[in-house]
Amino acid sequence: MKRVNILSWPIGGETEKVAHLLLEHFNNNAEIKALELDFLTVDEQKLKSCDLLVVGGSTVGADNWSTADNTTKWGHLFSLLRLTDLSGLKAAIFGLGDQKLFPDNFVDGMSVVKKVLELKGAKIVGYWSTENYEFNDSRSIDGDDFVGLALDTENQSELTEIRIQSWVDQVIHEIGI
Ligand SMILES: Cc1cc2nc3c(=O)[nH]c(=O)nc-3n(C[C@H](O)[C@H](O)[C@H](O)COP(=O)(O)O)c2cc1C
Repeated sequence: MKRVNILSWPIGGETEKVAHLLLEHFNNNAEIKALELDFLTVDEQKLKSCDLLVVGGSTVGADNWSTADNTTKWGHLFSLLRLTDLSGLKAAIFGLGDQKLFPDNFVDGMSVVKKVLELKGAKIVGYWSTENYEFNDSRSIDGDDFVGLALDTENQSELTEIRIQSWVDQVIHEIGI
């Protein structure tokens, strides 16, 4: 039985809905026990007690990301991550954005999460094709792919669930179940 820890922020909006769907889809696999961890109360031991760490959120402006410090929710997680050795841990990222309103910064936030996770030694899995999106630029592209699952519930809501299902299948395959 593999364990998947899901951490996401913010609550009360689209990100939270997506986190629940991810939880459901991971748990549909009999070999997996997926849990959502509380973003603010997670500690080093809880963070690392898994075979796959999933971290995600919405891009809602630079304030949430590049200037994240101890006074923001992301800052809380990033501070913890900076103190935690994640060597050998597999991690996957998801991000929500709006490709029509923010075509030059679509799901930029995933790149910030990737940087922090990789700095601490995590191996990122779950890269995702940029096909079937329409945007100009994103900091969350590495090579030809997004560094994680990109979702746009504003403009492509009909694709959200199928994307989640495919991504979860892909990630499960990548972590070797
Ligand atoms: C103030 C603000 C800034 C945003 N900036 C971006 C952005 O830079 N890039 C992007 O792809 N989406 C951006 N969005 C769109 C959100 O990421 C999108 O609406 C998302 O679904 C919100 O999820 P939430 O309800 O969990 O916060 C922005 C939204 C808001 C309200």
